[in-house]
Amino acid sequence: MAEHMTEHHDDRRPAVATEHRAPTVIADDLHIVYRVYGTGAGKGSATAALNRIMRRGPATNVREVHAVKGVSFTARKGESIGLIGSNGSGKSTLLQAIAGLLPAERGKVYTHGQPSLLGVNAALMNDLTGEKNVLLGGLAMGMSREQVRDRYDGIVDFSGINEKGDFISLPMRTYSSGMAARLRFSIAAAKDHDVLLIDEALATGDRAFQKRSEARIRELREEAGTVFLVSHNNNSIRDTCDRVLWLERGVLRMDGPTDEVLQAYEDFTQG
Ligand SMILES: Nc1ncnc2c1ncn2[C@@H]1O[C@H](COP(=O)(O)OP(=O)(O)OP(=O)(O)O)[C@@H](O)[C@H]1O
Ligand SMILES: [Mg+2]
Repeated sequence: MAEHMTEHHDDRRPAVATEHRAPTVIADDLHIVYRVYGTGAGKGSATAALNRIMRRGPATNVREVHAVKGVSFTARKGESIGLIGSNGSGKSTLLQAIAGLLPAERGKVYTHGQPSLLGVNAALMNDLTGEKNVLLGGLAMGMSREQVRDRYDGIVDFSGINEKGDFISLPMRTYSSGMAARLRFSIAAAKDHDVLLIDEALATGDRAFQKRSEARIRELREEAGTVFLVSHNNNSIRDTCDRVLWLERGVLRMDGPTDEVLQAYEDFTQG
């Protein structure tokens, strides 16, 4: 098992020994395979497609995509872990597996507590107003109406949605993609999570919002949860995470302190 290194070379924060803390996520030789049906021969004409749909018996032409290959690591309470790697390297797939949304082909992933996956596609309703979505999102995360009411103002303030007018009472479809992403993040961040999985949620926010989000991620981590952050922005990772997992073609290439892994990754992508 690829245990992470214990030495910290990060002088902005004191080194914290986390080995004694309870594990929250354990991946043990985890393999994830997607199966894509109906690919290959006979594409093109509508009759060919119809024949394919009508054909009896087991589907032919199954294509397998081996997206995560034998990944092992242990995450503990209080850790904030960055996930990096080039496009298609398996980061989103790994988060979905941790969230329990994809079955393991081989190996296992154990998650302690309730994982929450916060993605760019999180289920908010475009035709509902921001207000309604705050309620909906809060309830979906298991908060009571009472709790949502208590935190409502905090969520709206954090999102900054109303900075440019009363947008929170307008439908989500009138928001820019950055505004929508901010509201999603704000809703998710209002709750303390056992395991919070964030997939590129900060990517569309502006600089000020990114800074606020990064601060909140550090808080969530201090509230004893575990945060996983997927990002192509190395600065976000540097400011938020004390440990980084680097995936390449589904394989865990490196697992260690943020500075070391980012350095190796930068050498790799520039080389
Ligand atoms: N639903 C799916 N069905 C089939 N293959 C998929 C599916 N989702 C992802 N894949 C494949 O799995 C591999 C890993 O994809 P994944 O989305 O996990 O990458 P990623 O690291 O998140 O990339 P990015 O940085 O672009 O978000 C890729 O080869 C991709 O084509
Ligand atoms: Mg992805």
